[in-house]
Amino acid sequence: FSQKMVKICCIGAGYVGGPTMAVIALKCPAIEVVVVDISKPRIDAWNSDQLPIYEPGLDEVVKECRGRNLFFSTDVEKHVAEADIIFVSVNTPTKTRGLGAGKAADLTYWESAARMIADVSKSDKIVVEKSTVPVKTAEAIEKILTHNSKGINYQILSNPEFLAEGTAIKDLFKPDRVLIGGRETPEGKKAVQALKEEVYAHWVPEDRIITTNLWSAELSKLAANAFLAQRISSVNAISALCEATGANVSEVAYAVGKDTRIGPKFLNASVGFGGSCFQKDILNLVYICECNGLPEVANYWKQVIKINDYQKSRFVNRVVSSMFNTVSGKKIAILGFAFKKDTGDTRETPAIDVCHGLLGDKAQISIYDPQVTEDQIQRDLSMGKFDWDHPRHLQPTSPTAFKQVSVVWDAYEATKGAHGLCILTEWDEFKTLDYQRIFDNMQKPAFVFDGRNVVDPEKLREIGFIVYSIGKPLDAWLKDMPAVA
Ligand code: UDX
Ligand code: UDX
Ligand code: ADP
Repeated sequence: FSQKMVKICCIGAGYVGGPTMAVIALKCPAIEVVVVDISKPRIDAWNSDQLPIYEPGLDEVVKECRGRNLFFSTDVEKHVAEADIIFVSVNTPTKTRGLGAGKAADLTYWESAARMIADVSKSDKIVVEKSTVPVKTAEAIEKILTHNSKGINYQILSNPEFLAEGTAIKDLFKPDRVLIGGRETPEGKKAVQALKEEVYAHWVPEDRIITTNLWSAELSKLAANAFLAQRISSVNAISALCEATGANVSEVAYAVGKDTRIGPKFLNASVGFGGSCFQKDILNLVYICECNGLPEVANYWKQVIKINDYQKSRFVNRVVSSMFNTVSGKKIAILGFAFKKDTGDTRETPAIDVCHGLLGDKAQISIYDPQVTEDQIQRDLSMGKFDWDHPRHLQPTSPTAFKQVSVVWDAYEATKGAHGLCILTEWDEFKTLDYQRIFDNMQKPAFVFDGRNVVDPEKLREIGFIVYSIGKPLDAWLKDMPAVA
């Protein structure tokens, strides 16, 4: 491409496409980057002062590049036609019906993007998979493109994104690695080199750019997410044992993580992992294993999700059993609804399952999250839970449930008059709340259920709270209550 300006088009202006393209535009001023999406409200938001996603540092990057070499547009076909490199970053949810429902990835959006590319292209293209897709998707896409090619040469690359929400900009600036997979043909190798040199080498050190074959790149992304999720399920499984034995999961995780073969990161016990990736990617991995006649491998990974579901129901059971086995009509404050701190994203957040559990026991819940809107919360809670083992939509929460839910804009408001409070997201501000003030305004006995280990249980006990923290030694009070789960 060296003679002319490289043009990049990214299909899908979501959590992955938006921040990734903004950073490419920032780091490669000589490349024109256009992010396209079929959703007009999304594109309008990207072109406004109120970006559609909350991500620390993103505003600054977008402000610097937008209108210079970064553009957001709904004119999908025009920009795809003009691009040299097309990133595909559309959503790939889990299929909810038909073959593989509950496990397989729904590639509808991917396929329609591929067909559109084939329709409008008039010059050679490098097509890059950015969204996590099942292994061998590249092959399917390649087929769609080459069978509709009209003489155009397409090279398919897999370049999975490893950014985590809440730290997306930091992760993109200084990635642990960039992974590029391609065909091992001369044209394939040339395409891999082009993506590496024209784009990533502008800011990522050479030794952090890994090149592999297509299948390795696709599988590495699924495997990395499965390993990460497995660490959390492992420490969460240990947390249950800690509560039963009097060990402290923070001490155990610290001691275990000191082993350099294990490492200290990603060992925080919690109410459960959430987010759009972990469960979806593991279900996908499970499905692929089953399709390849590997049921033992499938069951091994499935267990990671089962422990995560167990952890969420264990939490709900702990709340209900501590409060004399009923929360009916009691106000419970929920602090934090996002699936992790520093994001407004609620996809697969454990808060949804915990709230459903409490609503099922007829609690009145009052929710506060610094970044999630009331609309979003009501939408999330009104949807039926998708049961991956028995694919069908369970009954959505009954209409009366809406009366049981209120969303407020302040932690003190949420906890006023409450019998208990649950911390479900590790927002920094929850560490420094005035817990004495909260205690004074709650019903007694006042309960704290810390699903993220953000508070110091001893300090809260001094104030007078009855405290449950995941994986920590139990209050005498809680020990007397019936066993959980
Ligand atoms: C994840 C991967 O980290 C990222 O590499 C991939 O590209 C997308 O999926 P993300 O889902 O955005 O990123 O956030 P992550 O930080 O991985 O957290 C996922 C969930 O695990 C959150 O609910 C988080 O609270 C939980 N978690 C994480 C724990 O419960 N304990 C931990 O120690 C770490
Ligand atoms: C282990 C622990 O490492 C040590 O900390 C503990 O005190 C005792 O148990 P050991 O069994 O002596 O030590 O050897 P280790 O190096 O851990 O290997 C155990 C087995 O795992 C071996 O059969 C080894 O070949 C195998 N292994 C190890 C793998 O198959 N793959 C690996 O990546 C690492
Ligand atoms: P991710 O977290 O993987 O980035 P998102 O759901 O946040 O996923 O973003 C995916 C985006 O892709 C959505 O904004 C959706 O509107 C967009 N999209 C889906 N299909 C197409 C398509 N065929 N053409 C353009 N945009 C699409």
